[in-house]
Amino acid sequence: MERRRFSYEVLVFLLTLLLFSLTCATASSSDPTQLHDHVEQPRRNLLANGLAKTPPMGWNSWNHFSCQINENIIKETADALVSTGLSKLGYRYVNIDDCWAELNRDASGNLVAKKSTFPSGIKALADYVHRKGLKLGIYSDAGYLTCSKQMPGSLGHEFQDAKTFASWGIDYLKYDNCNNDESKPTDRYPVMTRALSMARRPIFFSLCEWGDLHPALWGAKVGNSWRTTNDINDSWESMISRADMNEVYADYARPGGWNDPDMLEVGNGGMTKNEYIVHFSLWALSKAPLLLGCDVRNMTKETVEIVTNKEVIAVNQDSLGVQGKKVRMEGDIEIWAGPLSMYRVAVILLNRGPWNISITANWDDIGIPSKSVVQARDLWEHKTLVERFQEKLTAQVDPHGCKMYVLKPVA
Ligand SMILES: *[C@@H]1O[C@H](CO)[C@@H](O)[C@H](O)[C@H]1NC(C)=O
Ligand SMILES: *[C@@H]1O[C@H](CO)[C@@H](O)[C@H](O)[C@H]1NC(C)=O
Ligand SMILES: *[C@@H]1O[C@H](CO)[C@@H](O)[C@H](O)[C@H]1NC(C)=O
Repeated sequence: MERRRFSYEVLVFLLTLLLFSLTCATASSSDPTQLHDHVEQPRRNLLANGLAKTPPMGWNSWNHFSCQINENIIKETADALVSTGLSKLGYRYVNIDDCWAELNRDASGNLVAKKSTFPSGIKALADYVHRKGLKLGIYSDAGYLTCSKQMPGSLGHEFQDAKTFASWGIDYLKYDNCNNDESKPTDRYPVMTRALSMARRPIFFSLCEWGDLHPALWGAKVGNSWRTTNDINDSWESMISRADMNEVYADYARPGGWNDPDMLEVGNGGMTKNEYIVHFSLWALSKAPLLLGCDVRNMTKETVEIVTNKEVIAVNQDSLGVQGKKVRMEGDIEIWAGPLSMYRVAVILLNRGPWNISITANWDDIGIPSKSVVQARDLWEHKTLVERFQEKLTAQVDPHGCKMYVLKPVA
C-alpha cells in the first residue's frame, strides 16, 4: 500500500514537471513584446494563504508616529477606526510598525513586547482589536536588527517568530529589509513565507524590500504584497514619484498579490487637499494597499472626506483586480485608466503642472470601443453627468489635481 502511494506521487510529480517545462517552452517561444505569458505564469504560483483577494485596507503607525508608539495609541486608533465608520468601509487592519519590541529576546530566544510602551503584551492587544472586529498587524525585518535598530529582526529566527506571531493572534506581517547579511531578498523572504505557512494561521505577508530586486517578478509566490519603491514622505514629489515607479509593474498585480507604492500620507499635513485627492485616487486605481498613515483619532473634516470616499474605495476593491496604468502622457498631462468589473472603466485625468488645464481622455486610449456611448460618474463630485459621451471626455483640471470617473457604456 505504501509503495503504491509512493509511485503514484512520483507519477504526479513527473507530470507536473512535464507540464511546467511545456509552459516554459511556450513562454520562451512567444513574442517577447507580449507580456501575456510572462504575466500568466506567476498567476499559477500564488501564495496559497487565501488572503488579499482585494488590496488590504487599514492603518499603520509609521507615517505619523514613527517610533513614538505605545499600546494606548494602538487601542485608541482601533476605537477611532470603528467610531468614525472607517472600519465599515473596509479599513480593518491595525498595523504596528517598527519599535514595539525589546532590543533583547528572552532566555528562550522569543521576541518580547517592550515593557515600557506595551506593558500588556501583544496578545492582549490582538484580543482587544479582534473584539472590535478588526485585525492586528505587526512588523519585523529580514535582518539582524530592524531599521530603527531598537529591536531585533527575524533573520535566523523565522520559524520561532512566525510561531510567536500566530500564537499572539497576529493577522498581518510587514517584513522590512534593514541590517541584513547582504544575501538576496529572494533567499531571505521565502524563509519567512515557509515559516508563516507552518504557523497555521493565515497571516497577510507584506514584503518590504523597497523594490530593490524587482519583487513584482517573484513576489506573488512569496507574499501578498510587495513594496515597489523606497519610503514615501509627506510631499507631492515623493508621492507622485512613488506612483510612477509602481506603475511600471502594473501587469503583475492580481488578486492574492499586489504592488505596494507605500502607505498613505493623507491627513499628515504636507500636501494640499488637491494633492491628497490625487494621492488617494492614484493609490485606488493602482490597486495599492489603502493603509492610512495619519492620526485617525484626530482627523480634519477634509481628511475624513478624502479617505471615506466610498466610490474611490470601490475602484480599489473592485472584484476584477486589475491595476490601472498610465495610458497617455503629454507634458504635465497624464491619463491613467484601468478596467473594472461589468465592462466599466475607471479613469483619472491628472494635471501635474502648476496651472489649471483642459484634459481629454480618448476612448482609444482607455480601452473603450470607439463607437461606445458612455455614462460618466464623477467620483469626487459624487455626480453622474447628464451628458452622454462619445469618443472622448474632456474636463478642466486644477494644478496638482485630478478628476476621477467611472465610465459605463450605455445602450
Ligand atoms: C521627501 O522625498 C523627496 C522626493 O523623494 C525628497 O526630495 C525630499 O528631500 C524628502 N523630504 C524629506 C523631508 O525627507
Ligand atoms: C490634532 O490635529 C491638529 C491639526 O489638524 C493639531 O494641531 C493638533 O495638535 C492635533 N491634536 C493632537 C492631540 O494630536
Ligand atoms: C482655471 O483658472 C481660471 C483662471 O484662474 C479660473 O477662472 C477657472 O475657474 C479655473 N478653472 C478651474 C476648473 O479651476
